[in-house]
Amino acid sequence: TEAWGPDDDKPRRSAGPVRVRVPAKINLHLGVGPLRSDGYHELNTVYHAISLFDELTARAGDTLTLTMEGEGAGELALDESNLIIRAARALATEARVPAHARLHLRKSIPLAGGLAGGSADAAATLLACDLLWGTGLSRDELGEIGATLGSDVPFLLHGGTALGTGHGEAVSPILARPTTWHWVVAIADGGLATPEVYRELDRLRAGGSAPVALGPADALMAALRQRDPAVLGAVLGNDLQAAALALRPHLADVLKTGAEAGALAGIVSGSGPTCVFLTADGAHAQTVAAALADAGVCREAVTARGPMPGARVI
Ligand code: C5P
Repeated sequence: TEAWGPDDDKPRRSAGPVRVRVPAKINLHLGVGPLRSDGYHELNTVYHAISLFDELTARAGDTLTLTMEGEGAGELALDESNLIIRAARALATEARVPAHARLHLRKSIPLAGGLAGGSADAAATLLACDLLWGTGLSRDELGEIGATLGSDVPFLLHGGTALGTGHGEAVSPILARPTTWHWVVAIADGGLATPEVYRELDRLRAGGSAPVALGPADALMAALRQRDPAVLGAVLGNDLQAAALALRPHLADVLKTGAEAGALAGIVSGSGPTCVFLTADGAHAQTVAAALADAGVCREAVTARGPMPGARVI
């Protein structure tokens, strides 16, 4: 029931069920420029997909329904406001097909964590429904629909390590010799609302109390090519970190604990409150994760590797 499309690396149609796995993202560099008139900030960011995954299954149905299990079940609204439902409807409208599917989400990426969980689920939905409905769009076409749903959707369709510009939706892959980076992800209790964190950064900047803006990601991209975690650790940076710390002062303890545990570097992931730590290898990552867990400064500390592919049928 599967065929490969002519101009893309994904199958064309399946009778279902279609299962898609999608990674979380972190930002190795998040340079935030000025607020634009459309309400977004101009970004210069380096996205990196890590091995923390959500899984979306799409089955044929007579209406559009969504169920879920795992991280955030019972907290996440499953109605028309849900990004998964909105993604399915957006694809159906674009492709002029009925939005009929039974969708089920197995969630591991925490909600409102700065790991793009919502955008990841939207990306997975676009890919799964495209295949279930046989609408045959390319990843780039799905990305165009996705960019209207969340800034990180186009990246999560591609994955790997990539430069993001515009409001994050314009993605170009960064070609480097294959290297695996080892991370520790410190998951917080509760989330942070992305718009609030951007607003806090604007406030800090207006008051003259924000750190100097990072600007473009040149140093980070040069460091990626050296394939040395100590070199990469020295140039990780996030303009939203000061804002996330202002809203959640406790995150300073998380970063300090990771540093004391021997992590090469630690930053807030995206708009937070998740913090991520770079380590030398898998064993080192386990040591740092155990130290963070023992210190009780976060809800959970897990190890992860990157880069990972974007949304894929499994
Ligand atoms: O696109 P996404 O859903 O991730 O954006 C959520 C909110 O975060 C936006 O409505 C905006 O307030 C803020 N944002 C921003 N600049 C960006 C991306 C997001 O100000 N580049």
